[in-house]
Amino acid sequence: MNLQKNVPLKPYNTFGIEATAAIFSAVSTVEELREVLDFSKQKNFPYLIIGGGSNLLFTKNYAGIIIKNELKGISLVNEDDDFFYVKAAAGEEWHYLVLYCIENNYAGIENLSLIPGSVGAAPLQNIGAYGVELKDVFFELEALNIFTNNIEIFKLNDCVFGYRESIFKKELKGKYIVLNVTLKLNKKPTFNIKYGAIEQELERMNFNELSIKNISQAVVNIRTSKLPNPKEIGNAGSFFKNPVVDEDGYKKLISQYPSIPVYPNVDKHYKLAAGWLIEQCGWKGFRKNDAGCHTKQALVLVNYGNATGKEIYDLSTEIKQNIFEKFAVELEREVNII
Ligand code: EPU
Repeated sequence: MNLQKNVPLKPYNTFGIEATAAIFSAVSTVEELREVLDFSKQKNFPYLIIGGGSNLLFTKNYAGIIIKNELKGISLVNEDDDFFYVKAAAGEEWHYLVLYCIENNYAGIENLSLIPGSVGAAPLQNIGAYGVELKDVFFELEALNIFTNNIEIFKLNDCVFGYRESIFKKELKGKYIVLNVTLKLNKKPTFNIKYGAIEQELERMNFNELSIKNISQAVVNIRTSKLPNPKEIGNAGSFFKNPVVDEDGYKKLISQYPSIPVYPNVDKHYKLAAGWLIEQCGWKGFRKNDAGCHTKQALVLVNYGNATGKEIYDLSTEIKQNIFEKFAVELEREVNII
């Protein structure tokens, strides 16, 4: 077991926030993970499992143990007439898995290209982009039950996936650690280009055939054109979820703001574009010290260098309040506040 004291966390969170972990441990086997968990139980230290650190905002130093999940490995574990079953360890980088699948012609996650973060974090919030969510390709995952120390299998229905939600963020929060995820990927691709921007980008790229590689490239181009690269400007992707309102709420908004963008949703509920709401309130491009609201996508809060977690958090509170005053819509943070 490798334990380090007072470790700076800046390299381990894509927001690039300065904070320290009282204890830090990188684990690359399930045995190491169990040892660190035992140690934390014996000492009564809290712990936090991190992957790519792309959905975290540290607002203070962490007084317990940060456990960095570095379980590695990707393999084809099964196939049938229609599908490839690809198992990836939780510590693999998500985009590396996407590239691996494209290289091998396993179709289904090309629309999820360039999402920062690790494989293990993907099911927790059912990552999604450009009309596809993890749940659409999910087969099963293995997770460590931290109370019994047993490894358990979760099938699709067990995970209760929703929009940026799963059972691991709700009833089972803090009770399991994802070890690996198996995806069910198509042998015959069904291209998903209904998300407007993809079609436009494919046309602009002027490709003569539709392929998962070209769709992935289109997604990469769109993302890099409007989302800041965390290696250059600290950020954690969308800071808030897109809010969902009921029919009454939607009718009021559309009568006042006829051009308000809305995503189709189920059961007479409507998903609004938080980025649009935030832009309408004038926050896009806002900067106070090094904390800001991205110039090209208002849903992304950014650290221009030396912002503290608290400064980013306070900015998010101001934005939340302002959106509520103007639109009577409650924004919910998507990023985990630590
Ligand atoms: N919009 C604005 N101003 C802005 C940003 C957006 O008016 O500053 C408008 C756009 O014009 C568009 C609508 O809002 O009409 C939606 O914008 P966009 O297509 O950029 O998507 P989003 O709803 O802002 C969501 C996900 C992203 C994902 C994209 C593409 C959430 C919280 N975010 O963003 O996911 O990449 O759709 O599918 O659902 C993430 O979760 O970190 C993330 C980046």
